[in-house]
Amino acid sequence: MSIMPAAARTLSHVYPADARLNDAGHLEVGGCDVLELAREFGTPAYVYAEDDMRARAREYVDAFRTRTEHFEVIYASKAFPATAVYKLFAEEGISCDCASGGELHLALKAGFAPERIYLHGNNKTEAELRYAVERGVGTIVVDSFDEIGRLERIAPERQKVMLRVTPGIKPTTHSYIQTGQVDSKFGFSIDDVPRALDTMKRLRLCGLHAHIGSQIFELDVYEKLAEVLSGVGDWPKLNLGGGLGIAYTHEDQPPALEDYVDALLKNAPDDVTVLCEPGRSLVGNAGVSIYTVGTVKDIPGVRTYIAVDGGMVDNLRPMLYGAKYEADIASRFGGGRVVTVAGMHCESGDILIRDVALDDPKVGDILVVPATGAYGHAMANNYNAIPRPPVIFCRDGDARVVVRRETYDDLTARDVV
Ligand code: LLP
Repeated sequence: MSIMPAAARTLSHVYPADARLNDAGHLEVGGCDVLELAREFGTPAYVYAEDDMRARAREYVDAFRTRTEHFEVIYASKAFPATAVYKLFAEEGISCDCASGGELHLALKAGFAPERIYLHGNNKTEAELRYAVERGVGTIVVDSFDEIGRLERIAPERQKVMLRVTPGIKPTTHSYIQTGQVDSKFGFSIDDVPRALDTMKRLRLCGLHAHIGSQIFELDVYEKLAEVLSGVGDWPKLNLGGGLGIAYTHEDQPPALEDYVDALLKNAPDDVTVLCEPGRSLVGNAGVSIYTVGTVKDIPGVRTYIAVDGGMVDNLRPMLYGAKYEADIASRFGGGRVVTVAGMHCESGDILIRDVALDDPKVGDILVVPATGAYGHAMANNYNAIPRPPVIFCRDGDARVVVRRETYDDLTARDVV
């Protein structure tokens, strides 16, 4: 195929903002040559442009700040729960959403001020609630009558809470990540809000929360959400959840952040503090996964499988949601031959990408899959007793391991035999 000069090639907007092709035609993330990263740290690995995450946090804050004084940006840490990331967003001054006692532990260890933390979960255990209360977690987002009962017993007088509701809004996205419909395991129905309020004696309700789903490209659902919640009563705060979609492939055109913030604020009363909880849109495009191609299997007239040294263990999203990704050979960008990228795990469904054009993939090539920064590391698992990959932060040409690769010894570390 024809080789374009590196400078003429533009990277798809799914890559980190500072990603580029260097003079050798290799991908650089955070100023680091991905081939050198693969040599130094091995594959598979999650590689992040640190500045990309910081820039996105600042964009969120700026987008709100130019429109209102009453706002709070909260990092939904389930998207990428690693200590270094909690630290980074704590430094950026935003707040933190924890979905469990474990995430709370990570956030506190990384230095998040407890009062900036929101604890979520549709079935928080008593132990989790006690942990939160003991550590002075600022706001607990209560999800059920049973939880109100538990908290009334253990929380200090005037513990701040928000009430999670299901507003009956169903955005267009995969059904597994729709959460705002009435038929949901999460939250209270709107009609139950007065009764929930009545049962609170010691808790201090400071507003409503709703998260309608994830990977959403429509904005009218957010306008509707603010309208529905502000119709339920007068509250100092409304938390409109997260869910802004990102581009996974060059065809995806998610809404601009500014337009999203406009939609959140459009129907919220002026004096109400609007909270939002982005996860994916803060970290998703900042990260890429790198793999080594291990086999190329041609089935004439059928398809070519190229197998990499990772797959469903480090990226469950294709299997779980049919999520689509793109890929490139890190040293030869631009497609040529349409192939299927398979994982190395013992499942036929362990396919990372069906039909992607790559420039003549060969054994030993480094394959890069962009936009794996959210819910990749977060949902990594040990199927087939595969050690999980490291996380590498890159910035100004320097790379540092912030989560080391798991070892075989880690796989037996919890055994009691
Ligand atoms: N707030 C709450 C209460 C949530 O439940 C979530 C995500 C968020 C905020 C952040 O949503 P985001 O901005 O990241 O869309 N594993 C799935 C995503 C599950 C999201 C669960 N809740 C995936 O890989 O697509």
